[in-house]
Amino acid sequence: MAIGVFDSGLGGLTVLDALQKRLPDQPFVYLGDNANAPYGVRDAGAIYDLTTRGVERLWAEGCDLVILACNTASAAALRRMQETWIPRDKRVLGVFVPLIEALTERQWGDNSPPREVAINSVALFATPATVRSRAFQRELSFRAVGVDVEAQACGGLVDAIEEGDMILAEALVRSHVDALKRKMPEPDAAILGCTHYPLMEEIFREALGPDVSVYSQPSVVSESLADYLARHPEMTGPGTASRFFTTGDPARVSGQVTQFLRRSIAFEPA
Ligand code: SIN
Repeated sequence: MAIGVFDSGLGGLTVLDALQKRLPDQPFVYLGDNANAPYGVRDAGAIYDLTTRGVERLWAEGCDLVILACNTASAAALRRMQETWIPRDKRVLGVFVPLIEALTERQWGDNSPPREVAINSVALFATPATVRSRAFQRELSFRAVGVDVEAQACGGLVDAIEEGDMILAEALVRSHVDALKRKMPEPDAAILGCTHYPLMEEIFREALGPDVSVYSQPSVVSESLADYLARHPEMTGPGTASRFFTTGDPARVSGQVTQFLRRSIAFEPA
């Protein structure tokens, strides 16, 4: 049985790549909503509608388990979906909780009360919609007490990366890190809270300096999914090869893939 991976566009390929390396025999169905990307500048209602439509499309492909690789969708839509919309026989998981579990060193499924953790201050870099949702702070407060969070909305960064303008992207990373440091000069940890930002991880690390622990999603999410599947073997099983769908122009999207992965992928129309 294939696992669905939903993203607003191509950034989720950074997560998919790590999932395929960690779970090489597992087939995946990837859906990029390129026609509506980026999500990070949209309002919460629009993000919810687009995300539920994408998840339904992956359910129609037989994926009972769907990962929301997009942070903006995870932040703005997932909790509402889980509370009111997802049927009992389906699962939709986001990328925020695994990151927070790694940050707070708490195991998946540990529902004990929030407690003090080793990290006192966190810098969150994310899209404007993710920052506005305050989902990171909410999920963190369920697990940890006494952690200061400063969030930096990285306007323009997703567009620069999607356009392949790495000179602009680097300048934006440096100016967003400077802006964050004016609010929180010495964070203990930094979260790269958008699927595109792992592509700029080196620049983030350099600008933040060696004393900041940088948490990037692909490796954290792939470990978390491997752990989840070990506990829920019913959500997976033998399947065919992975497939890739886009709501955008398949030829154009396939041509952009090399910016995100060192291999080619043939996208099909969604
Ligand atoms: C976006 O669609 O704006 C970026 C994806 C993300 O938030 O991970």
